Amino acid sequence: MNQQSTHRINIAIDGPAGAGKSTVARHVASRLHYIYVDTGAMYRAVTSIALDRGLSPDDEAGIGQLAHALDLALSPGEGGQKVIADGVDVTARIRTHEVNRNVSRVSAIGAVRSRMADLQRRMAQAKGVVMDGRDIGTHVLPDAELKVFLTASPRERALRRYRELGEGAGVTLEQLERDIAERDRMDRERDIAPLVQAPDARLIDSTGRSIEEVVDEIVAWGLAAASTISAGET
Ligand code: DC
Repeated sequence: MNQQSTHRINIAIDGPAGAGKSTVARHVASRLHYIYVDTGAMYRAVTSIALDRGLSPDDEAGIGQLAHALDLALSPGEGGQKVIADGVDVTARIRTHEVNRNVSRVSAIGAVRSRMADLQRRMAQAKGVVMDGRDIGTHVLPDAELKVFLTASPRERALRRYRELGEGAGVTLEQLERDIAERDRMDRERDIAPLVQAPDARLIDSTGRSIEEVVDEIVAWGLAAASTISAGET
């Protein structure tokens, strides 16, 4: 069932890789008739263009410049969000193992983060956005009316990525689990906007829970938050 509320709010969904954020966020957005923004895809797009242009992930100045000049467009597509970077459709490329392995380093670059946060705030200005990432509730949209921190066990997260990539991707489950643990560490330990649960975020552990259950819970919270605000205005 689709639900709409008169008052539109912003919903921030943060959490580690593979916790189900993008699937859940996409469904929540569709139920509420909101716009879904996958911020991880934006960092992935910068990473893939940087790699394609032969830049080293350690070249902070070069990648920072690239991020500032990059024209990024996100649009709803079949089974997910379509990502166009400088006119090139990078939707498939950004999910490759090579991008997975380099995106944490690229997303730790200050100039990349400031540019992405700027774009993300602009997207959320008119409200009615469900944005998923690592620092949305803490840094990008600290005033989001609903903040959720979504997590799952490392093993379950690796399994989900394994299924997403497909068996032919040439990467083992063990390798993915190691990659996920390493990305978690880098995302949590970086100096700028590290992955951390906002004090006012609601925690959901999705291990062993269905997508529908998690979506229902967040939609109910979202509707409650929107109606509280509407009530306060009348
Ligand atoms: O959600 P994801 O796996 O597509 O994210 C890819 C990488 O981008 C992840 O390693 C951390 C980074 N990221 C970030 O630093 N801040 C965000 N708001 C979203 C993603």
